[in-house]
Formats: sequence, C-alpha cells, structure tokens
Amino acid sequence: MYASFRSIGAYIPEEIRSNEWFVNRMDTTDEWITKRTGINERRIASTDENTSDLGAKASKIAIERAGLENSEIDLIICATISPDYLCMPSTACLIADKLGIKNIMAFDISAACTGFIYALQIAQAFIQSGIKKNVLIIGAEKLSSIIDYTDRTTCMLFGDGAGAAVISATDNKDEAITDIQCSADGSFKDLLLTPGVQSEEASFMQMKGNETFKIAVRTLTNDVKKLMEKNKFENKDVDLFIPHQANYRIIKAVGDALKFEDEQKVLTVDKYGNTSSASIPMAINDCYENGKLKSGDMMLLDAFGGGLTWGSALVKFAGK
Ligand code: ACO
Repeated sequence: MYASFRSIGAYIPEEIRSNEWFVNRMDTTDEWITKRTGINERRIASTDENTSDLGAKASKIAIERAGLENSEIDLIICATISPDYLCMPSTACLIADKLGIKNIMAFDISAACTGFIYALQIAQAFIQSGIKKNVLIIGAEKLSSIIDYTDRTTCMLFGDGAGAAVISATDNKDEAITDIQCSADGSFKDLLLTPGVQSEEASFMQMKGNETFKIAVRTLTNDVKKLMEKNKFENKDVDLFIPHQANYRIIKAVGDALKFEDEQKVLTVDKYGNTSSASIPMAINDCYENGKLKSGDMMLLDAFGGGLTWGSALVKFAGK
C-alpha cells in the first residue's frame, strides 16, 4: 500500500494586519519590515476563533475536496504550537469533535514550523503499514495568542491560519508520495522557545532571529540537496518548490542556492507572514486555488523551526 496526497484545504482569517499596525505601536518602519522579511501583511484570527476552529474549517474543505465523508477519516494529526489548551485536550480531539468524528485516533504533534512535514511522514507510515486508510493532517496556528507584542524583533513576523490535507491509501505507485525526511537537533533549543509550565515567565514565543536565520539557510539547502540526490531528482523534475514561509530572504537564499527558477518558487510570506505549521499547507492551497497546482504535479516541500526541527518532502499531488 502507498500513501497519496489526495486534497488540500485552508482557512485564512478575515482580519488583515498591515505593517502600519506595528509602525503605530512600536519603534519600527514599514521599510524595515518589508526589507528584512518580505512581509507586507498577515492575518489575525478573531477573539472567538481558536486554533481548533481554524483547523476544523480548513479540514472541512480538504475532506470535501478528497470526495470523502467525515466518517471515512480514520486518523487525525494536528501540528500546532498554539493549541487551544496547554496540554489537554489536544487540538486534534477538538477538531474531531467540531467535524462530528468520534471513536478514531486523534493527536497533536509539536515540531514547530516543520510540523506539517512531520505529520505527513507519520500519516505515510500509518498508511504504508496498513493500519489506517484516510488520514487528515492539519497545520493550524493562532500564533497571535503566543506572541509578545512588545518584542519588535519577533512580533511582526507571525500570523494566524490553518491548512489541512487528506492522505489516503492507494495501490497505484504513480500516485504515491515519493519521499519524506525529518530531523531534529535539541542542542539548539535556546534559539526558539516558548517558556513552559515550569517557568515564571509569560508563555510568549522567544527567538534569536539572526542565529536562526543563518542555520535555517544552511540546513534547508543541505537537506533539500540530500533528498533530491537520494531520489535522483533534478530541478526540472519539480513543478513547485514550496518552502516554509518564514522570511523572504531565507526563501530567496535557499531557492538561489538550489538554482530553482522563479516560476517554480512559491511565495506567500508577503500576505500571510509566518504561520508556522500552517504555512506550507496554506501555500499549497493558494497554488491549488489559483490554478498553479494541478493533478500529478510534483511538489518539493521544506521547513525549519523550533526544536530545532527540519524536514523536506517530494510529494506528487494526487488530488483533482
Ligand atoms: N524594526 C526596526 N529595527 C529592528 C526591528 C524592527 N522591528 N527589529 C530589530 N531591529 C534592529 C535590531 O535592533 C538591529 O539593530 P542594531 O544593528 O542597531 O543592533 C537591526 O535591526 C538588525 O537586527 P537583526 O536581528 O540582525 O536583523 P535580521 O536581518 O537578522 O532580521 C529577522 C531579523 C527578520 C527576525 C530575521 O533574523 C529572521 O527572519 N530570522 C529567521 C526566523 C526564522 O526562520 N525562524 C524559524 C521559524 S519560526 C518557528 O519555528 C516558530
């Protein structure tokens, strides 16, 4: 049995927060934010929308586009660093409830911005082992709830949103996900963290942006090269290069080092900012909705985030 990427969906919160919002509240400029990050605006969830609401809305679209009923989903994995509740219940359980799905396995994973690629590989393993048939994977974040809006070096980077995909079993090798690789190195734990229950500090995200930036460029470039070589892929075999949307300069540096053409590179950071685990599925959904992603297209995904974690994947889009 093979795992195939059946469908994509996303939920983009309505409120648009422009760079001007930050300029009016702290010592920064539109020019600094645009030049250093490539971000013009980001979306912010409303006060009555939690991460599980964003995730459930994206999931409904993904399940519908997969041509399935909610009852046919047999596993839900939600990647998030901004869960509704600190430890329990998991956001995946809440999403299952919002979708009216009962009596299946549902759990969260914490791999920061690499969460969607981690979830993808877990889904693939459950399917290839024959244990599950239709796995719903979600990247959902209400990062605005864990951002310190007095920290000008970090707060303007992040936004809210959710993306979801259905990964299904198939016996057709042509539809299968080609390869996924995920890694972590906890010795870099201090670069990006959210103080936990043992801490006196507020649970806001903290980031050493500049150090993270340099490691991100190096690690992502090497990781993608390794994946491409292992699978004997050349750039022309990739239709869309869809990196985690953290910073335009990181995407450009990695894209240039890997020599991808501009038409292959997908960029959404300008309008959504960094939405952590939601950024890749939101970007895939954008390509799907604007006709850039078609059935049979080969996507190259890559991500990097707190942990540190990183990962990349060569995934054929098996949706309609
Ligand atoms: N407005 C104006 N000036 C600012 C601002 C601001 N908002 N923030 C910082 N500065 C100043 C700094 O104080 C510094 O001033 P100095 O030179 O006088 O000391 C100067 O700008 C440069 O600061 P740097 O931190 O070196 O700026 P850099 O070019 O590295 O950009 C940024 C900062 C955008 C955060 C960048 O480092 C970045 O994007 N890092 C990577 C983020 C990332 O990929 N994270 C991983 C994923 S996130 C996750 O896992 C949840």
